[in-house]
Amino acid sequence: MSTSVTSLSPAELQKAAREHLWLHFTRMSSYTGEDIPIIVRGDGCYLEDINGKRYLDALAGLFAVNIGYGFGDEIGEAAAAQLRELPFYTNWSYAHPRAIELAAEIASVAPGDLNRVFFVSGGSEAVESAWKLARQYYTARGDNVRAQVAERMAAGERIEQRIPSQRRWKAVARRIAYHGTTMGALSINGIASLRIPFEPLVPDVIHVHNTNRYHRPAEETEAEFTEFLLKDLDEAILQAGAETVAMVIFEPVQNAGGSYTPPEGYWKGVREICDRYEILLCADEVITGFGRLGAWFGSERYDIRPDIITSAKGLSSAHAAIGAVIARDSVMEPFLEGHEMYSHGITFGGHPVMAAIALKNIEIMKREKLNARVLENEGPFRATLEQLLDLPIVGDLRGTGFFYALELVKDKETRETFSDEECETLLRGFLSPRLFEEGLICRADDRGDPVVQISPPLVADTAEIDEIVSILGEVLAEAGQRMKS
Ligand SMILES: Cc1ncc(COP(=O)(O)O)c(C=O)c1O
Repeated sequence: MSTSVTSLSPAELQKAAREHLWLHFTRMSSYTGEDIPIIVRGDGCYLEDINGKRYLDALAGLFAVNIGYGFGDEIGEAAAAQLRELPFYTNWSYAHPRAIELAAEIASVAPGDLNRVFFVSGGSEAVESAWKLARQYYTARGDNVRAQVAERMAAGERIEQRIPSQRRWKAVARRIAYHGTTMGALSINGIASLRIPFEPLVPDVIHVHNTNRYHRPAEETEAEFTEFLLKDLDEAILQAGAETVAMVIFEPVQNAGGSYTPPEGYWKGVREICDRYEILLCADEVITGFGRLGAWFGSERYDIRPDIITSAKGLSSAHAAIGAVIARDSVMEPFLEGHEMYSHGITFGGHPVMAAIALKNIEIMKREKLNARVLENEGPFRATLEQLLDLPIVGDLRGTGFFYALELVKDKETRETFSDEECETLLRGFLSPRLFEEGLICRADDRGDPVVQISPPLVADTAEIDEIVSILGEVLAEAGQRMKS
């Protein structure tokens, strides 16, 4: 058994974990009689636990470790060099070379004129910050107009037109979408079970249809589906009062519910609606950014043309706690005038060590040509996963790039899904523990209909893809048998 950099024995670690560590989104009671899994090291696409058992990480941490676990030394050297040079300084009123270089690097790979970068510590903070930015953008724009009018009136010009209030605060998101856990980001979430314990939430978020096509009428064409979605969005905005809506926030491919890809023409229509009502369009690319879809951003792949992009995870391949809000020049414009400033900041935003790590990560992604590798491998990856559609329990395969989901069904003909109770037995009672036992980490999830999510590091190759599908095949076949009996 290999050792880990710890002075505690496995038994001591287990005891300390039980007594002190509070795991996220985890039923701690499930570990009363069982060991907490303790992961001690990684290499390539593999992880090793404290007992020396290896796992193929088909979830890349949490859709995050895009370069895999093999570049720790190189990234560690970049972090160590930065720690020696400048371990910390803030982005509040000051800049430092790594934040500047990283902002410029991000702007160079971001589409169009998305040139302005505001750093945060993770995905929730990015979403939170995007909503705050959108809210303040309209006020700042209005204040600028009012200031200009006041100046011209002071100079003797007669302006009788009333300047309407520019305040907008609402956000529009999609049902079952996950956007994080801080109060603003949580309010944007479209997952009822996550929202309910914390109500009342931040006003006001309107939730519209997501792009799940599997449970739509069989005879509906793709064009009809797009039309239905856009009509739903348009009506929701009008009902909310378009002049009160600050931001529409959608993921290029929605994760929660299982890799919902957009139908043809969808993003073009969403952009048109946002333009019509002057609403800022935010692409939440916390997962899809930095290579997961075979491009720096999903916005590029789907020609989304957002006003704001939120990103985190893949920006550093999760080697650092760093996220970024990337805004178009026009979004920053009102903040470049007079006394205006974006009244928001986070101590660790743009942390130099985190920025140095993210810069090294992007350098590695470029050197290893990871976007091109994903595009090359996505066809064979999908084709291999398609073999699983032969299983009676697998109803649908969705996704693109290195971002897939298999939807599990009770009846393939009718597409009938499992009840809540059956999901509990299927996912938490059987699939999650059995996949882990078999050495495969992927996610069995029922925030929407039950799905298995597969999102490996972008360095995964044929051997890893074959292994994922082989283990999934056996475990899902067994799951199907069990759910029948
Ligand atoms: C689309 C999306 N937005 C935001 C978040 C929140 O990110 P974090 O967990 O880094 O706060 C996530 C996390 O999975 C996400 O998938």
